[in-house]
Amino acid sequence: MDHQRLAMPIGEAMFTQRSIRRFRPDPIPTEDLRLILEAAVKAPNGGNRQIARFLLLTDRALIRQFGALYREAWWAKRLDERGWTRPEDIPPEEKTYRSAAQLAEEMKDAPCIVLALAVAPGHANSVIPACQNLMLAARTLGIGSVPTTLHPKVMDRAYALLGIPKDVSFHFCIPLGYPRGSFGPTSRKPTSETTFSNRWGAPVPWA
Ligand SMILES: Cc1cc2nc3c(=O)[nH]c(=O)nc-3n(C[C@H](O)[C@H](O)[C@H](O)COP(=O)(O)O)c2cc1C
Repeated sequence: MDHQRLAMPIGEAMFTQRSIRRFRPDPIPTEDLRLILEAAVKAPNGGNRQIARFLLLTDRALIRQFGALYREAWWAKRLDERGWTRPEDIPPEEKTYRSAAQLAEEMKDAPCIVLALAVAPGHANSVIPACQNLMLAARTLGIGSVPTTLHPKVMDRAYALLGIPKDVSFHFCIPLGYPRGSFGPTSRKPTSETTFSNRWGAPVPWA
């Protein structure tokens, strides 16, 4: 596999990777999808048992049907968490939610959606590192992504739509596409606040 094509400095990829939730309609070349998946499966995983499985959705009609389920799932989560049922319920200062709500509307138009799954025993911790590799490889190719989840309310229908066996676990739904908008810096708490040295609560040397 031609991994030389993922030539962006790793620091640039990591420090400019942000959630991309608005996509141009352009399809992603199959060789790029393959490279992204080849990078994903290089991630560490428990005992190298390689339980992660990926389902690539590129069929427009299927993505439209899946998009409707995604939208329903997104609002079901908001009802559970916040009691919100429509866009007007989201306070203006909740920018991430407003943007995520927009994605819920537009998932049906994503050029590609990757579902990250796992065969038994299905542990998330053997799938999540692969998802991060996948998203960083995509970023290096100028392809945006964001990890998202579903909701129990739509699971049976999503599995039936895509022919996923019941004993396969779902972990992430990751839309992929060329960004409308740009990659750029993210805002995070300082590591001096989120990292301790030797004992819980003890400051790191750079604090
Ligand atoms: C477990 C998990 C679930 C997430 N679920 C959603 C989601 O349902 N919809 C969405 O738009 N973004 C979702 N995200 C993306 C987060 O909102 C995003 O990573 C966070 O706000 C930081 O964004 P940034 O990297 O652009 O700064 C999820 C991320 C994780 C790790």
